[in-house]
Amino acid sequence: MAIQPIVTFPQPVLRDKAKKVTKFDDELKNLINDMAATMYDAPGVGLAAPQIGVSLQLTVIDTSRNKEERNFLVLANPIIVKGEGEQVDEEGCLSVREYAANVKRYEKIWVEAQDINGEPLKFEAEGFFARVVQHELDHLNGTLFIDHLSSLKRTLYKKKLKKILLEDEQE
Ligand code: NI
Repeated sequence: MAIQPIVTFPQPVLRDKAKKVTKFDDELKNLINDMAATMYDAPGVGLAAPQIGVSLQLTVIDTSRNKEERNFLVLANPIIVKGEGEQVDEEGCLSVREYAANVKRYEKIWVEAQDINGEPLKFEAEGFFARVVQHELDHLNGTLFIDHLSSLKRTLYKKKLKKILLEDEQE
């Protein structure tokens, strides 16, 4: 397992529509292990492949925050087949530096995906877990949580980021 550098906004790979996973081989398993290692190291509760620069419809999720038992969920080619209700809560993203904001999401979702071996996977998610799944699936479509905000908030964030990037250069 190797921790990979996390790609951050505005790098273009985050904006691509990720390609479908078609080969469920050892290479994919290695990639999944790298993604999990990177997620736990960050630490985060989810990570999508584009966040380490790989444009594939693949995400790992672990909302348990349990450090002894690391059981993460792998979703390949996931889709939300139905969404219900509404929840608003603060979200951040490992690829969006130094920012968090309230985002509206479905309260409950029905998901279909494939697991690490390509077997079909169907489940329902609610609350925080559903929020994380929706956030990670957005990444696979080139969407970031800041896209759900008002254009004013987004503009303010872009200004803030400009400053951060300038400060980086000066270091
Ligand atoms: Ni994210």
